[in-house]
Amino acid sequence: MQETPEISTAKGRLGVLLPGMGAVATTTIAGVLLARKGLAKPIGSLSQMNTIRLGQRTEKRSPLIKDFIGLAELDQIVFGGWDPIPDNAYESAVNAGVLSNEHLELVKNELMEIKPMSAAFDTEYVTRLDGPNKKTGSNKRDIAEQIRADIRDFKEKNKCDRLVMVWCGSTEIFLRHGSVHETMESFEKGMEDNEQSISPSMLYAYAALKEGVPYANGAPNLSADFGAFEDYAQAEGIPIAGKDFKTGQTLMKTILAPGFKARMLGINGWFSTNILGNRDGAVLDDPASFKTKEESKLGVIDHILQPNLYPDLYGDIYHKVRINYYPPRGDDKEGWDNIDIFGWLDYPMQIKVDFLCKDSILAAPIVLDLAIFLDLAGRAGLGGIQEWLSFYFKSPQCAPGLYPEHDLFIQNWKLKNTLRWLGGEDQITHLGREYY
Ligand SMILES: NC(=O)c1ccc[n+]([C@@H]2O[C@H](COP(=O)([O-])OP(=O)(O)OC[C@H]3O[C@@H](n4cnc5c(N)ncnc54)[C@H](O)[C@@H]3O)[C@@H](O)[C@H]2O)c1
Repeated sequence: MQETPEISTAKGRLGVLLPGMGAVATTTIAGVLLARKGLAKPIGSLSQMNTIRLGQRTEKRSPLIKDFIGLAELDQIVFGGWDPIPDNAYESAVNAGVLSNEHLELVKNELMEIKPMSAAFDTEYVTRLDGPNKKTGSNKRDIAEQIRADIRDFKEKNKCDRLVMVWCGSTEIFLRHGSVHETMESFEKGMEDNEQSISPSMLYAYAALKEGVPYANGAPNLSADFGAFEDYAQAEGIPIAGKDFKTGQTLMKTILAPGFKARMLGINGWFSTNILGNRDGAVLDDPASFKTKEESKLGVIDHILQPNLYPDLYGDIYHKVRINYYPPRGDDKEGWDNIDIFGWLDYPMQIKVDFLCKDSILAAPIVLDLAIFLDLAGRAGLGGIQEWLSFYFKSPQCAPGLYPEHDLFIQNWKLKNTLRWLGGEDQITHLGREYY
């Protein structure tokens, strides 16, 4: 076991920078503003509401996580962001239609103060939207340097002690790793040459890393998921995490699939379809952006069920995922799952799940927790991929050569054991007392 690191205290202001100030970002911001005034509860957030068991069960020690380990408090957070659409956070939240007018009116003035900085945006990578609030520059490196300058200005103007960045921008088109993503040098050269395989989200991630700012990616596009950035983050002690917030249907999948596997029930079909009508749904209506999302959603089942170990149970699964843009529903997504399972002697059974969820309501606590836990990781000097934050992602980044852990319960265990380790407590194994 590695020694517990020194953790600097969470004093002063924490700037939370959000590239992409749409539905998820504004629901997060408004929620934090409401919660810190005591006007609403931050439901779904582990950093705010969850306890952590310490020591043996007989000790009866279960403090709130935030009381156990020093975390930035909601009052210390200052929000900033970028978006090609110039709406302030209030206008954007009204447009997103997630939160009620009653809620938004209570924090209207603070939301109106949060105006997006001009974005590094290119319709080649997100084809279904555009806006006038964009940066121009001689090449991609120039644009990345402008983001770095924004970060420094924000920090100074808002008197922040530390910053974190969480990508809440649209899903970009599907891109593959290339030689340009191998080292920091090849990436920098690639930016100068305006390489097509460098998307705007990578420019934000680059700027964050170069400014020493922890970075998480809430969308499925590559962004910081390649060797050049992982190595740099590891070497410089900067935490990174990704990809794609685990909400809605995939959350359900990673709750259900581990249960079927735990009971050795077989599965031969899992069909998932969604209707979604928000701006994210419009972006995902483009096949190139959907491909990025599809890859992210499809990996889950294979990794949880391990068909190589259980060919009789999971060797022949037909897994299909569809997302259909359907404007009347707005942010109120509906996700249907039909699961064909089989039990004793191969007898077939079916399970139907119909989840009427609110996408951004499920995503907002994830953004808050990632910001707060990335800040903790940064203060503890933990560099590179933070696998203990896999809990929050559909497509968790992991070290080269390892497979991602998708099982929500293993992820939760890992998250809490990491917190115990950071707090100098014993890991919990759930073995009975006689085995201690
Ligand atoms: N809501 C969820 O449950 C959920 C779950 C997983 C992932 N996500 C992902 O989170 C992201 C945000 O979702 P949303 O519902 O808020 O979408 P949204 O469309 O409401 O907001 C995204 C915003 O990003 C902006 N944007 C796009 N490219 C940008 C760039 N290069 N720089 C700055 N801003 C940029 C857009 O103008 C838009 O305002 C999407 O990629 C989505 O796929 C959402």
